[in-house]
Amino acid sequence: MKNLITHIGGLPIEQLARDFGTPTFIYERDVIEKRIAELKAFDVVRFAQKACSNLAILALMKKHGVVVDAVSAGEIHRALKVGFTGQASSDPGSTGGARHAPGIVFTADLFDEDARDMIRTHKLPVNVGSPDMITQLGTFAPGTDVTLRINPGFGHGHSRKTNTGGSYSKHGIWHTEIEECLRLGKEAGVNIIGLHMHIGSGSDFQHLSTVCDAMVKAAKRMGPQLKVISAGGGLPIPYHKEQSRIDVGAYFSLWDKARKMIERDLGHSISLEVEPGRYLVAESCSLLTQIRSVKSSGGNRFYLVDAGFETLVRPSMYGAYHEISIATHDGRAVGNAFDTIVGGPLCESGDVFTQEEGGVVTTRKLPEAVVGDFLILHDAGAYGSAMSSNYNTRRLAAEVLIQQGRGDIIRERQTFEHILHFERIPSNLA
Ligand code: LLP
Repeated sequence: MKNLITHIGGLPIEQLARDFGTPTFIYERDVIEKRIAELKAFDVVRFAQKACSNLAILALMKKHGVVVDAVSAGEIHRALKVGFTGQASSDPGSTGGARHAPGIVFTADLFDEDARDMIRTHKLPVNVGSPDMITQLGTFAPGTDVTLRINPGFGHGHSRKTNTGGSYSKHGIWHTEIEECLRLGKEAGVNIIGLHMHIGSGSDFQHLSTVCDAMVKAAKRMGPQLKVISAGGGLPIPYHKEQSRIDVGAYFSLWDKARKMIERDLGHSISLEVEPGRYLVAESCSLLTQIRSVKSSGGNRFYLVDAGFETLVRPSMYGAYHEISIATHDGRAVGNAFDTIVGGPLCESGDVFTQEEGGVVTTRKLPEAVVGDFLILHDAGAYGSAMSSNYNTRRLAAEVLIQQGRGDIIRERQTFEHILHFERIPSNLA
């Protein structure tokens, strides 16, 4: 029956639940490796770790020559922990083509104090999103290599909240400001060497050629000091199983064509980077939950599971669609499927996995299930664990990596004491 499964990554679901408990994010290493291999035509694959910053996932990226982007001091800290640096790697074992690219690039629209310290101490290159950052860099880290994150004047995304271009976007440097940035760069004593354009997450081909054209134009404005261009992230994945997969070869060809035009204009070679988050990890991960209540209410059928939007916020936040499957806990035959609403444990009505943008609750045809069965939310690897919270004082879920036919824990389930660790009761209230 459709949406009825028994295994994740070759391991029986019931055993995974027994060994690791629920809810648990379960990643499959070979899926991530397949996605990395698909992008190897790019000179540099830079993982947008905001999508999934678990140390084990970062270490796996590193093993395959993928470098990382960091958007906060915390993400820099993670990258340093697994051995990335701000310098180009000369690791001959790298297979991702990133041998001459810095291991970490800091991307942001501003510097906070923590980030300033990290950048200065570890000599990290910066992808700046505001002209102000260029001048500020000159005061605390002159000599830094800089790329300009350009807002080409338009954007695109799977939701209004993930569109990062256009005049209402807080991201990036407006495309007509490039010459001014070069002037500021000279004044500040930083080396502006690259251009970066990330116009949104979930982009499509119609938009892509427009972005490539905008990059070629921006490169003309920038002139001979340009050495690297970055296509940003945004490669979509088929969240609906009937959606077709993006043609990565065609995606590369469009960017490669733009790169070659720029090389012709400037008369020297240009390195082409891509910066995906979602594409590398989304499909590698299933969120394993357990059904704790099956009920009818007002004519609707509900499965309530032991994870809510504190664990996977994408449906509540963007109306994002995730495929859902059921696994029985006792191997019984299941004959019927019903239109079902799937919700979590939170004391909030928006805690529903089957909803569209704007909070419209929908149903999903799912196999008949009983309390104790398992419910799996697919494609949860990007912005799943990374966006989870302790809302309702619920613990962060465990994370497991399946490799070589077994599951290795890559994040323990949080403890209640850990949640309370930094809270203090003033003595007059104790
Ligand atoms: N580069 C930059 C500068 C970005 O801002 C982002 C995403 C990426 C790369 C990676 O984009 P990706 O390839 O993963 O689409 N929480 C939302 C997505 C927010 C993306 C923010 N920036 C979601 O769950 O869909």
